[in-house]
Amino acid sequence: MIRFDAVSKNYPNGTTAVDELSLELAEGGITVLVGPSGCGKTTTLRMINRMVEPTAGTVSLRGQDIRDVHAPELRRGIGYVIQHAGLFPHRTILDNIATVPLLLGWSKKKARARAAELLELVGLPAEMATRYPNQLSGGQQQRVGVARALGADPPVLLMDEPFSAVDPIVRAELQAEFIRLQKELHKTIVFVTHDIDEAIKLGDNIAVFRTGGKLAQFDTPERLLAHPADDFVAGFVGQDRGIRRLSFVKAGEVPLREGPVLTTTTAVAQARATDEPWILVVDDARRPLGWVEAAAIPQGGTLADATLTPLGHTFSLVGDSARAALDAALLSPSRLAVGVDVDGAVIGVVDAYELSAVIAVAKAEAAAGTTDGGDA
Ligand SMILES: Nc1ncnc2c1ncn2[C@@H]1O[C@H](COP(=O)(O)OP(=O)(O)OP(=O)(O)O)[C@@H](O)[C@H]1O
Ligand SMILES: [Mg+2]
Repeated sequence: MIRFDAVSKNYPNGTTAVDELSLELAEGGITVLVGPSGCGKTTTLRMINRMVEPTAGTVSLRGQDIRDVHAPELRRGIGYVIQHAGLFPHRTILDNIATVPLLLGWSKKKARARAAELLELVGLPAEMATRYPNQLSGGQQQRVGVARALGADPPVLLMDEPFSAVDPIVRAELQAEFIRLQKELHKTIVFVTHDIDEAIKLGDNIAVFRTGGKLAQFDTPERLLAHPADDFVAGFVGQDRGIRRLSFVKAGEVPLREGPVLTTTTAVAQARATDEPWILVVDDARRPLGWVEAAAIPQGGTLADATLTPLGHTFSLVGDSARAALDAALLSPSRLAVGVDVDGAVIGVVDAYELSAVIAVAKAEAAAGTTDGGDA
């Protein structure tokens, strides 16, 4: 959809911002450009809407060389979001969002109606329409920035570190909101960040750049974690990539065993006979109630009389990842993670050691699809 063919950008002062970049970005997907400061991310992004012209090579959009498209016309189909939102301080929120439709010659009424729609789409209350940018929080301004970029419903969206200037909690909210929005809109998005976690969370594909504007690797997040092309990429994706990779394994693929699961009506004598250090007590519908330490169970009676240790959290076999399972295991008093179905009923348990086998399988699968010569 967006294609770079041997694209370079050299500045007269001798800086090579981008060095012979060849890359094809899928239509309707999120491609993340990631890398250290000064590695050419912004330059690459701006070559797509001709805010920067390449020194060599060709950028094309849907098969057409973008040099053959008049820049204003090109930009009409490309929304652009930057850090700090870049809103006009003396215009209301509604008028900020209506900027592009107004530039396109829409009537004021139609442009404002569209702006009100977009305000809602990005999750902001209607009463914010009449406020000015400095009356909004950083996160809210960032949402307005996204709404403004969507003004003319462009098929392509360029986003340059849009969530970098807000605190981690707001950032996580904006990311979640962004994922929801993209499920609805299916835009072709090029997203710049220097944060590998954000890249992995948001990207369908990730391009990792190194200093000097060189593309180090272009891959899915999963493959990037499994098979960093070299030491630079391995270092960039971090030491904890093993744990990150578990995010891509569905909890449904985690091998569960039945485990020491007993109901409240079970006699204590029977519970002790299992020889398990911890017993998971469940109700009639197999919903987990808590753990009981075998050594601490009083004599006689049933498990209903035993003191329960809180469960920690369970993981769902539908929807959660193996990473959630590992976290549940690490936090569980018994060291066992409890897997539940959609109704919250216990399916089985797994410990961290058993989960490590899941990594080995994921690694083997990723290796089977390798094109870059294997693990670094
Ligand atoms: N107009 C310019 N003249 C000379 N050099 C430039 C110019 N614009 C950018 N550069 C240089 O090109 C390189 C790439 O810059 P770019 O802004 O694309 O990096 P970036 O990856 O977006 O960095 P950051 O993460 O800090 O935003 C840098 O070394 C930068 O100093
Ligand atoms: Mg930049």
